[in-house]
Order: sequence, then structure tokens, then C-alpha cells
Amino acid sequence: MEMDQLVSLCKRRGFLFQSSEIYGGLNGFWDYGPMGVELKRNIREAWWQDMVTGHNELVVPPGAPSAYQMVGIDATIIMHPQVWKCSGHYDLFHDMMQTCRQCKRLFRADQVFDMLKEAQWVQSLASTLEIGPEGRLLKADAEGLLRWAKSKGRKLAPGLALVRKAESMQPALLSRLADLTGQGMSLPELLRFLATEEAGAPGLQTPCPDCGGDLTEPREFNLMFETHTGAVRDESSRTFLRPETAQGIFVNFKNVTDSTRVRIPFGIAQIGKSFRNEITPRNFTFRSREFEQMEIEFFCHPSQSAAWYRYWRDRRYQWYVELGLSSERLRLRDHSPEELSHYSCGTADIEYAFPFLTPGEFGELEGVAHRGDFDLRSHMEGKLVRQGDHFVVETDETGRPKHRGSGKDLAYFDDETKERYVPHVIEPSAGADRAALAFLCEAYTEDLVPDEHGKPTPRLFLRLHPRLAPIKAAVFPLVKKDGMPEIAREIYSQLKPHLNVFYDEKGAIGRRYRRQDEIGTPFCITVDGQTLADGTVTIRDRDTLRQWRVKKEECLSEISGRIRTRS
Ligand code: GAP
Repeated sequence: MEMDQLVSLCKRRGFLFQSSEIYGGLNGFWDYGPMGVELKRNIREAWWQDMVTGHNELVVPPGAPSAYQMVGIDATIIMHPQVWKCSGHYDLFHDMMQTCRQCKRLFRADQVFDMLKEAQWVQSLASTLEIGPEGRLLKADAEGLLRWAKSKGRKLAPGLALVRKAESMQPALLSRLADLTGQGMSLPELLRFLATEEAGAPGLQTPCPDCGGDLTEPREFNLMFETHTGAVRDESSRTFLRPETAQGIFVNFKNVTDSTRVRIPFGIAQIGKSFRNEITPRNFTFRSREFEQMEIEFFCHPSQSAAWYRYWRDRRYQWYVELGLSSERLRLRDHSPEELSHYSCGTADIEYAFPFLTPGEFGELEGVAHRGDFDLRSHMEGKLVRQGDHFVVETDETGRPKHRGSGKDLAYFDDETKERYVPHVIEPSAGADRAALAFLCEAYTEDLVPDEHGKPTPRLFLRLHPRLAPIKAAVFPLVKKDGMPEIAREIYSQLKPHLNVFYDEKGAIGRRYRRQDEIGTPFCITVDGQTLADGTVTIRDRDTLRQWRVKKEECLSEISGRIRTRS
């Protein structure tokens, strides 16, 4: 499946729209339409049900070190600014950014070369070159490059030095190309060379993926959106839209232990919006500026944290498999020590092979991190920094904490063992929008099904897990007469208080099936001639096209049972 096909289906059938589309859209923001909102609600609901309300705290789940409790909270999006200073987001939550000196666009430094690979001007330029099996240039002739610069280059890469300064670069180009191709120059090296205006100037420039212009050196850019609370807009009223939901849980740890009877080990879950001013939002909803997270902070005794980390890695991976992601496209990847965040003693990503990635590449769906006692200590003592194997409070030039903590005691007292300690935290942190995107990518299916004359015809359908499907069943009268619509309406009314069902009596039955297939409705209930005789209806399964009959009064138990038990 090409990503464009999914994007078009999502718009056509009301899953996703560009935000503020009638005004040209706002980059990095997406709206969920009538089908999309149901899909995302079902994802959130499945997560909350499976992780929180449906969790049985009396039994030890397979692979868990013991039984455990789960509760939820719903914290605010804007919190005290000190939260972000102590968590490290104020000082450290940035990406390296480069700006194009010609077109002024911004790029995330670590994405520039990937974007160049996909850029139209690079592909056009590469088609004039001979490239060997390992990406080395076999032949790059300066005349050909100059011809490209004066023709296609003008339109596709007006900012590229080779295009802007074709005449003055010519002698240098000729002599340096002869040397460099002999040494087996790669395409990225050639691009940098062609983006550098002054031959002989130290350092080669990196070209802009959009216009070919030269990019500035990478600079830090904090991803938090700022706002002000209250009428006065100054430093004292500056606040931030949360970039993650996790901190709302840490700052409420004491409130939860004081107000409930939870005992360690236990988890606090939260679902909510997060905001990051991503430099280059892209790949549909994958990297957005406003998105939704589903996070758990799981608090445990330090001696058991490694075992809980392993449990949560596997449990969360399994959750996606249970809801239909195939294990060939899903993987668990442990971070290398260099990749670990400043606080983490171990992190694994659950990744999915999204179709917009190059084959063999995977994108993050969820991170499961062992955060040690970093977060609770930061909110007690102040922002921490690593010193050897330990974390200590970071100090300013006067020796005082750089960002002061709350000073509140967030240690846990175990009244059975009489032990007092700061719990360790395991954090499974998922994105609801990325999950929705992965489920949609996985569900997109094309097959051939017989039409009313038995001729195989192409069909497009979404093989969504019934728990996630926006509409659980559609109810149809076969024809709009003989009392069939009345019976179908009655079935619809019986089901509606329990399930999101849809009534349709318009058009040929085959077309009504196809419309439901395209939005992933797992079951269609049809009232036909036999219903009038014996009170049974047919139920059609979206994936297998199998049809069977049940008594019309049993539709609810039949559909509900199949939603629950579908693996
Ligand atoms: N509290 C830890 C944390 O926030 P993260 O890896 O930055 O970790 C967790 O984010 C999850 O949130 C990601 O795995 C992803 O699913 C989702 N996410 C993060 N940034 C996102 C973005 N810009 N757009 C959509 N989803 C995003």
C-alpha cells in the first residue's frame, strides 16, 4: 500500500482531515472526522480498559513479578513552570535545527539527509549520474551537471550554488570533480560540493532539501510551546503547553498515594493531549505538533524494577499484537547505551514498519523506559544531572540548585516492611495518534470478491479489529418494501444503545456492503425474504465474507460476543 492511498481514503471516508483546511491548513495539526474520532476513542478505550479498569489486581498476570494495582488521573495541560525546569524539559528538550539561507525554511538537522534522499531535485540530479552498487559515483561529468543546472535545476533547486552560480563555479567544478569521482565520491558528498559557492572555502555546505540553498550550522531549538497565564505577559507569567503527560503523574504521586489505598507496586495511567513545536512535522500524523499520549508511570521497589521493566516491555508489545498488528511489521528494539535519555537505565521501543519508511526501517509507536528514581527525586530535590553513575542536583555558579525542586517528600513508606524509599519508575509511553496510524496502515487491504454475477471485482476494505472499528455493525433491509425496513429499523433501535451501529437502506446491497467495508465495519446484518418467514437475519463477516443466519432477537449477543472474542 502506498501512503497516498491511505491518506486519500482517510479524507474520503472521514477519518482524518488537515486542520483548518479551508484556510490552507496548518502544518503539523490534524482533525479526526466522524470515522476517525470513533477509531481514536476506541483505541483510547481499549487501552484504558486493558491497562486500568479491566486490570485484575488479585491475580499475577503472566510474566509479572507479582499482582499489582492500576489507577488513573487526568491532570491539566498547563502546569507550574517549575515542573518543566525540574524535569529537564526547559534546559534539554530541544532538537538541532538548520535554516536555509536562501528560502529560510527550517529543518531538523538529523532529518536533512533523509529528506534530501526523497527530494525531487536530488532525484532529478541523480538521474543524470552513474551511481555504483554502494552508492559511489562511477561517473559525474561536469558538463552534464551544468546542463542540468541550467535546465531542470533552475526550477527544482533555484537555491543550489551550482544553479545560482553556474558560470563562476564552472572551472572549479571541472577540476575538483575529476579528482573526487576518482576517489569514489558518494552522492551526499557530491550534493554538499554542489551546494558550496566558494571553491576552496573551508567546509562544505549542506544543501536545503527544498530549494538546494545552503543550510546554517545546526542550532538548538526548544520544542515546548509557550504561553502566558493571566493578563500580564512577562517572564513571571510564562507557562508551557505540556510536551508529555508523564509529569502530571509524577507531580500527583503523593496526592494519589495519600487519597487512595494503592500500595507499591502500582501504576498511574493518564491519556491526554501533548504539544511539541516539531521543526519538521511529517509523514501524515506520525510527527504532529498536537497529539495524544497514553502513558503509565509504574512505581515499584528498586530491587524489582528490572523485572517490571521486562514485564511492561512484553505486555505492551503484546497489546498491539492482540489488536491486530502483525508481528512481521512490529518489533521490540532495545536502545543502545548512546541512545538512552539522560534519565534512563534502559529503554525499549515498540516500532512499526510504517509504509512511508524505506523497507527495513521502523518508526516508534511506543517507548518503554526504566527511569529509575530520576523523576520523583527531581521533583523533590531539583533538576538532576548525571555525575558518574549517580544523579546529583545541578547547581548554578553560586552553588545553589539551578532549578529548585518542590521540597516535598515523595518517598514511599511501606508500612508492612517499615522501609522508606523513593520508588523506581517504569514508563510505557504510547501515542494514540501513532497507534491509530499503525492500525489504519495494517488494516488497509485490497482483494477480489465476486460481484452479483460472480465476477471477481477489486474491493478495498479496512481489516480493523472489531474493538477498534468505528462502526460495529450495519443493518440493512435487502429491499425497501415488504416490511423489511420496519424490521431492520427495529433491530437497529435494539442495538444502538449498546453498540455504534449504522442503518442504511439506500442503493444496491453490494454497494452498501462495500461502503461499510471501506470504513472497516466488521459485520453487516441483512433483513431479507426469509426474515419475514422465520424471523432470522443474515450476518456477513467483513474479512471472510461468510454469511450465517441468527434469530433477529439474538443480534446483540451475536455481535457483542464476536467483538469480544475476535483474536
Ligand atoms: N514521557 C516520555 C515520552 O513522552 P516520547 O518517546 O517522547 O516519550 C512517547 O513520546 C510517544 O508519544 C511516542 O512513542 C509517540 O507514540 C508519541 N509521540 C511523541 N512525539 C510525537 C509527535 N510529534 N507526534 C505524534 N506522536 C508523538
